[in-house]
This record gives sequence, structure tokens and C-alpha cells, in this order.
Amino acid sequence: MKPITDQIKEKPWKGWVLFIATIIIVFFLGLLASSIIERRAEAVFAYTPTVEHSQWEPRNEVWGENFPRQYNRFLQTKDTSFKSKYNGSAPRDMLEEDPRLVVLWAGYGFSKEYNQGKGHEHAIDDIRKILRTGAPVDGKTSPMPNTCWTCKSPDVPRRMQEVGVAEFYKGSWEEEGHQIVNNIGCADCHDAQNMNLRISRPALVEGYQSMNMDINTVSHQDMRKLVCAQCHVEYYFKGEGNYLTFPWEEGTSVEEMEAYYDSYDFKDWTHSISKAPMLKAQHPDFEIFQTGIHAQRGLACADCHMPYINEGGQKFTDHKIQSPLNNIANTCQVCHREETSELLANVYERQDKIKETRDELEKEIVRAHVEAGKAWELGATENQMEDILMDIRHAQWRWDYIAASHGASFHSPIESARVLSTGLDAAHDARIKLARVLASLGFNEEVPYPNIVTKEKAQEFIGLDVEKLNSEKEKFMEEVVPEWDTKAAEREKTYKTKNL
Ligand code: HEC
Ligand code: HEC
Ligand code: HEC
Ligand code: HEC
Repeated sequence: MKPITDQIKEKPWKGWVLFIATIIIVFFLGLLASSIIERRAEAVFAYTPTVEHSQWEPRNEVWGENFPRQYNRFLQTKDTSFKSKYNGSAPRDMLEEDPRLVVLWAGYGFSKEYNQGKGHEHAIDDIRKILRTGAPVDGKTSPMPNTCWTCKSPDVPRRMQEVGVAEFYKGSWEEEGHQIVNNIGCADCHDAQNMNLRISRPALVEGYQSMNMDINTVSHQDMRKLVCAQCHVEYYFKGEGNYLTFPWEEGTSVEEMEAYYDSYDFKDWTHSISKAPMLKAQHPDFEIFQTGIHAQRGLACADCHMPYINEGGQKFTDHKIQSPLNNIANTCQVCHREETSELLANVYERQDKIKETRDELEKEIVRAHVEAGKAWELGATENQMEDILMDIRHAQWRWDYIAASHGASFHSPIESARVLSTGLDAAHDARIKLARVLASLGFNEEVPYPNIVTKEKAQEFIGLDVEKLNSEKEKFMEEVVPEWDTKAAEREKTYKTKNL
């Protein structure tokens, strides 16, 4: 080919085409540069604070003035319209859906009321209304300690700063009622100085220490799950002072935590029918998630529960934390090309299959409790029962570990199935031993399965008067809660903020 200068000499129009094309390209490059600068300015503008507040400011609306996009989405966790096959934010009475739970938790608060978790904006309202916290009115106290508030509110780290951590946990639940009033929020996960993610709950830091790990050296991606691990984990209340503790000293698998609890002879309660020393699993979503493929491929909770969204050309993190199934386009489909219906079917298939085994295990444990009750009735000795009660404890711990972790059957279906199968093993052991004890006491028939087809029937079977509990609760909600709110509003007027 001839050099370009010769070409232009021969055909001058080629020069003009080149000239105009250059002008057009330069023009668009300029436009692009100016748009980038504008976006930068916008971004800076969006993050220029308009109000200065303290590090432990508990009121989300105050932080929200600086970050309206995140705040507006965060407020939408109030929404209760989404129901997936097993989860979602819509109200769901779990005892009504599955009355066997009432028998499994006989003698413990969960048999009174247990509901599907809703969004973070419901945390305070729900803990006040749930029958498990009782009705501390007319000088009565709650059956629960202050520790129960720990995963509900950014008022908690504020109070811990004021009174000390151990001091905060001590005492009965109603004592902090007028202090803890703001729903889970910004101060729980963010440093007010720079909006970096931060851990505000000492129990998680101590849990890491107990495994000889330092939480201050984790990666940014790890922080995107550790902020959730402040609450969505297994924990217990240790000792007299009800000190919130994660049982991770030996590790975070179901067996390691069980070994930890066994070595301390810890129990949450004594089962009212079988007399077994029971453990209540909380919601080990963080621990189980770690064993699944998405964790192994480096995902964090925020990747599916807080995806990026776009608003007015701004990309930011969606603070409407919810079931990802209500938002498949922004979550799963960022990585998977499959249709929505197929991804949904993938999730439901895993959940259905885990549920199938879980239901079988539940029935076995109900039978074990009832048969143990029969053995006591016929005069079984402590000695005869000791081993059996440990089997029941272990079977139910393993069942609850999966049942209480609402995301487990998707987060890690294989580990979930494994844990349930070891639970079935323990339940079968208990029942074989029970058959022998019953036979030795002269009883050779099948102990009838109780009539527990509805929640009411099941609660009647375990001897629970729910009507009384409900009317006491109503009185508490009418008389005590408004006082808490008034006191809190007065206190909050004294918090210092500065408009910039
Ligand atoms: C449960 C924890 C949690 C809570 C509560 C929370 N955030 Fe966030 N926030 C995150 C995570 C996770 C990110 C993503 C951080 C990253 O990847 O660097 C984030 C990011 C942000 C960012 C950085 C910009 C962006 O959108 O990615 C801002 C600003 C922010 N949050 C503001 C808020 C405000 C305001 C509140 C209270 C209304 C709040 N956050 C409550 C976890 C939380
Ligand atoms: C301070 C404690 C705390 C932190 C931190 C926290 N959660 Fe929660 N979360 C809760 C509580 C309590 C509920 C149940 C609220 C209710 O039902 O009233 C909940 C509910 C949920 C739900 C159910 C919502 C629905 O609509 O179905 C999801 C999903 C969830 N959290 C995910 C997360 C993720 C992901 C993170 C981290 C980015 C996180 N949470 C951080 C305490 C916390
Ligand atoms: C790969 C995506 C993904 C990641 C990552 C992920 N989850 Fe989930 N999570 C899901 C799906 C899907 C469900 C099932 C939702 C349903 O059934 O509606 C779920 C369910 C949940 C639920 C119950 C939701 C409800 O509506 O009650 C909680 C709580 C939860 N996850 C917490 C977490 C925590 C904590 C982490 C990190 C340790 C995490 N998830 C990581 C996809 C994910
Ligand atoms: C950030 C990327 C990312 C997101 C978001 C994501 N996934 Fe995945 N997913 C992966 C990777 C990576 C794997 C592992 C596949 C591999 O390595 O071959 C995987 C595996 C899977 C598998 C097969 C795992 C198994 O059980 O064998 C399913 C099913 C799946 N994802 C569904 C979902 C669903 C549903 C969502 C949304 C709730 C989702 N994923 C969100 C990246 C993602």
C-alpha cells in the first residue's frame, strides 16, 4: 500500500474524511471525559456529609440524611409482601405450619410462639410482641435476659460503650427496654468516620479470638459476610451474667460445637416430657454457609442479599436486605445465565429435599420424647435413661442446627443433608435403647403418637395456656411499651448532631 501522504495527494477527499473523522472522535472523547468528571463530582457530592453525628449514633434517620439512597432502600425492609416457598418477609406462624415444633420445644419459650423472620426494620417491634419475652408488667420480670437485645439494634453498641459489655448483658430483659428502641441499622455495620464496614459486636471478635484468629486482619470481601456474622450465627448465654458467647473454641462444625457444649455440660433447658438436657440451636447461617459451594467460590452474604443497584446513574449497595428470590435479576443472574424460573426451581429442589429428611427426623424425635416420658412414668431410673437422653439431645441439636438456619438448605445442601442424617442416627439409637428400657419395665406395645395435628392441640398436649400469655402480653404492650418510647424520645433529644 502507498504511504498515506501520497494517497491524499492523489485523492484529496480522503484527507477530508480523515480530518472530519478525527474531529468527531476527539469530540466524543471530550464528552466521555466530561461525563466521567461529572459522575465523579456527583459521587463526591453524594458522599459529602450534610450532618455530623457521633460514632455510636443509633438513629438511622440521622445517618440517612447523609446517605439517602442507602437509607431509603434500608427502610424498605419494612415490606412484608414477599413469600417464597419456605422463607420471605411475609408473616408466617411456624408453629401453625408445623405443630411438631411445639413438642420438640416443650418446656421452653419457643413452644409459645415462633415466627418466620422478617426484615430488619421489624426487629424491635417483633421482640417486644413475641410471647417468649414475656409480659414484664406490674413488677413482674421477663424470663429473658438483656442479652436478648444484642442482635436487634444499634442502641446496643451505644449502651455497651456507656456501661461496659458484661454489665450490659446482666439483668432482666425489661431493664434495657427504654434504651433499645432503634431497629438494626447503620451503626451496627459502619464506622461513622469513613463508612468502612466495622464489627460492632464484641461476641464475634471474641469468637474469632477463641479460635486463635484475628478479626482485624480479614479481607474486605470477608467483611461483607462478617458484618452479618455478628447476628446470623450460633451463640449461647454463658454463666450467671448471661454473657453472649459463640461456641467456636473447638471449631464451627455441628460436631465441634456439640463437643464444646457437652464439655461444659451446658443446656438451654430441660425438656418437660423426656427430661433430656436440651440445646437450642440459634441460626448458624454464617457457619453453614461457609461449607457450601458459593463460599468456596469466594462469595459473601452481601453478594446475594445486598446486590448492587442503579438509581439515576449511581451504582450503590442495595440496603433492602431480603430473600434473594425477590430479586433474582440483580443477584443470581449477575453470575448465572439461566432463566429466573430455572434458578428458582434449583433453589426449591434443594429446599424440598432437605425438608423431606428434616420432617422424618422431627417425627423420630417427637416419638423419642414421648417414649422417654412413658419410660419415666413406668419408673425408669436415671441410670437407665442417661445415655438415651444424651442421644435425644444430640439428635435434636442436629435437627435444629439445620431447621433454625433458614438459608441452610440452599447455602449448603450437602452439609445440611449430612447433619440431618447424623441426627437420624442419634434419634434411632435413642429409640432402640428406649424400646429395651420399656420392655424391661414390662411395656411391649407401641407408645401412641400424640394428636398434635394443629398448633392448639400440640400446645394443649404439652400443657401450655397460651390464652393467658396473650392477655398478659396485651397489657404489657398497652402499659409498658409506650412508656419506653416516651423515655427514649426524651433522651434522644439530647443527642448532639451538627448540620454542615
Ligand atoms: C447489616 C449491615 C449493614 C447495615 C445495617 C447497613 N449497611 Fe451500609 N453497607 C453494608 C455493606 C455490606 C456494604 C457494601 C460495602 C462494600 O462492599 O464495600 C455497605 C455499603 C454502604 C455504603 C457505601 C456505598 C455503597 O452503597 O456501596 C454506604 C454509604 C452505606 N452502606 C450506608 C449505610 C447507611 C446510611 C445505613 C443505615 C441506614 C447502612 N449503610 C446500614 C452493610 C450494612
Ligand atoms: C444486629 C444483628 C443483625 C445483623 C448485623 C444482621 N442481621 Fe439479618 N436479621 C437480624 C434479625 C434480628 C432478623 C429478624 C428480624 C425480625 O424478624 O423481626 C434478621 C432478618 C434477616 C433476614 C430475613 C429478612 C426477610 O425479609 O426475609 C435476612 C435475609 C437477613 N437478616 C440477612 C442479613 C444479612 C445478609 C446481613 C449482613 C449483611 C444481616 N442480616 C445482618 C439480625 C441481624
Ligand atoms: C449465592 C447466594 C447467597 C449467598 C452468598 C448467601 N445467601 Fe442467604 N439465601 C440465599 C437464598 C437463595 C436463600 C433462600 C431464600 C428463600 O427461600 O426465600 C437464602 C436465605 C437466607 C436467609 C433466610 C431468608 C428469609 O427470608 O428468611 C438468611 C437469614 C440468609 N440467607 C442469610 C445469609 C447469610 C448470613 C449469608 C452469609 C453468611 C448468606 N445468606 C449468603 C442466597 C444466598
Ligand atoms: C457472584 C457470582 C454468583 C452469584 C451472585 C450466584 N452464584 Fe450460584 N454459583 C456461582 C459459582 C462460582 C458456582 C460454582 C459453580 C462452579 O464453580 O462450577 C455457583 C453454583 C451454583 C449452583 C450449583 C451448586 C450446587 O448446589 O451444586 C446453583 C444451583 C447456584 N449457583 C444457584 C444460584 C442462585 C439461585 C443464586 C441467587 C440466589 C446464585 N447462584 C448466585 C456464582 C454465583
